[in-house]
Amino acid sequence: MSTELFKYDSVEVCYGEKAIVEEISFTLKPGEILGIAGESGSGKSTIIKAALGILGPSGKVTKGDIRFQGKNLPDLTEREMQKIRGAKIGMIFQDAGSSFCPVRTIGDQIYETLAAHETIQRKEAEERALELLGKLGFKDGRRILESYSFELSGGMNQRIGIALAMLLNPSVILADEPTSALDVSVQKQAVEEMLLLRELYGTAMVLVTHNIGVISAMADAVLVLKEGKIVEYGAAKQVLNAPREAYTKELMDAVPKLRRS
Ligand SMILES: Nc1ncnc2c1ncn2[C@@H]1O[C@H](COP(=O)(O)OP(=O)(O)OP(=O)(O)O)[C@@H](O)[C@H]1O
Ligand SMILES: [Mg+2]
Repeated sequence: MSTELFKYDSVEVCYGEKAIVEEISFTLKPGEILGIAGESGSGKSTIIKAALGILGPSGKVTKGDIRFQGKNLPDLTEREMQKIRGAKIGMIFQDAGSSFCPVRTIGDQIYETLAAHETIQRKEAEERALELLGKLGFKDGRRILESYSFELSGGMNQRIGIALAMLLNPSVILADEPTSALDVSVQKQAVEEMLLLRELYGTAMVLVTHNIGVISAMADAVLVLKEGKIVEYGAAKQVLNAPREAYTKELMDAVPKLRRS
């Protein structure tokens, strides 16, 4: 098997006529976590949305390739992308927790998500969800499945949203500010859970966040983005311990670090 799971090659994305990100290249190996850092508006979310085909009506990949399992994602039809999104490429957004529907239980929604991608019985879907929640240390998995999202705290919803991105066993997860809305202690817990998921399932991850602390706690490689261009890309140790660019140092000085425990 190729060691390249997911690869951007000189990608440019435009909204309308305006190029928002340019010359974006990186490679993700199985199980690798790449952190993408950069100030607000630097194009972090745009990079992720380009792979998922969710740039909206004015957004378009205008140059380069985004290769996944031998395919160039921007060439695929919406129908083909629907089979990939969520199932082969998992997604976690800042508001993953609030994307649960308020009038159906968490368990109902898990079943629907799984049933949309594979033939599965309700009981099996529940067992799989309980097993996953158990591995993450949730002691009350059954209660969670029977709950409506409004019965759980915001932090709990987000942690469940993160866990559920794993249920279809994607080989890559694209996470956009997955912990940014959480308070510091829940953020730490969610970071530990994401690392545990990577260990258990070997999932690779692109982790977009303006929080270098989260990146230093999780990433194997770091890409620093400024005004739509890469200013630095390399092993996390190198970029974080010996940043070459003043911009990277500024980002690092701007936030307190979360330590790997
Ligand atoms: N749908 C859109 N149409 C036009 N311009 C857009 C659209 N979405 C984003 N942009 C612009 O593209 C640039 C990059 O936005 P993007 O959301 O990728 O930044 P970001 O790094 O994720 O920022 P943040 O940290 O605030 O989330 C910004 O200037 C933004 O205004
Ligand atoms: Mg963003």
